[in-house]
Amino acid sequence: MAGAGEVERTDYTPKSSFADDLRVLKAMWFGSVSGDSHQDQLESFYNKQAHLYDQYRHRMLHGRKPLMMNMPVKKGCVWVDLGGGTASNVEFFGKSVMTDWFKSVHVVDLTPSLVRVAKKRVEDNNWGGKVNIILGDATDPNLEGLPPSGSCDVVSISYAVTMIPNWRDVLKNAHRLLKPGGHICVCDFTVDRDSQWGISKTFWKYLFSTDHIYLSEEHIETLQSMFDQTRLEVNYGTFPYVPFFLKCPYYAYIGQKK
Ligand SMILES: C[S@@+](CC[C@H](N)C(=O)[O-])C[C@H]1O[C@@H](n2cnc3c(N)ncnc32)[C@H](O)[C@@H]1O
Repeated sequence: MAGAGEVERTDYTPKSSFADDLRVLKAMWFGSVSGDSHQDQLESFYNKQAHLYDQYRHRMLHGRKPLMMNMPVKKGCVWVDLGGGTASNVEFFGKSVMTDWFKSVHVVDLTPSLVRVAKKRVEDNNWGGKVNIILGDATDPNLEGLPPSGSCDVVSISYAVTMIPNWRDVLKNAHRLLKPGGHICVCDFTVDRDSQWGISKTFWKYLFSTDHIYLSEEHIETLQSMFDQTRLEVNYGTFPYVPFFLKCPYYAYIGQKK
């Protein structure tokens, strides 16, 4: 339960089945990434698993819950979720979306099949008029449909920085959108400088790169140089059907525009 004066959040836990998990695993491990543009490559990776994305990813994207549970929200919040996929982050605020806690929510993603799932979610939940789904590039400062520069209270990016080749541009776009004092909330897989063995860093970097996901020490450092850090959690997370000792570091970062 939310305390008085706090937005109500929900512990979003989508249900999965073994058969669906197998389909997702097949698409992740044996699906090939093809196409010339970044968008075509993303679509080729996601189109066979878009409708099953939430159930499986929920159990491996461990940074999303602490990020969404700690995302600063004040009344009349304008929230942009960049690389928002199926818009499942909005589910964490399901009961509050249509209240005066949120003025508007904008979810941007470049993959058409995931955007279709996001649009259906908006329809199914009757979030129309409040939650705006935008098919487009999160690094584009001129993307149509986004709120004006300097007008957003929160910009979140969950597990998209590692998938965006020009990732510095998505952080710049987030910075541009935020008002002074607004919050950036980012989570993703990472490399743990302090306590991770070298062989483990090499293993995870290599494994993820085969799916065009690039882990880097520079992501957290760049966030820290661009924003005033208010919260950083670095932890290790498991993957469904993978031995429990094979854990990859992830982070959840919250910072404030100076
Ligand atoms: C691992 S998924 C994470 C999706 C969602 N944020 C979540 O936490 O479930 C990475 C997302 O980044 C999106 N993406 C990658 N590059 C992008 C870009 N340049 N602009 C917008 N979205 C992008 C992909 O389409 C995909 O939905």
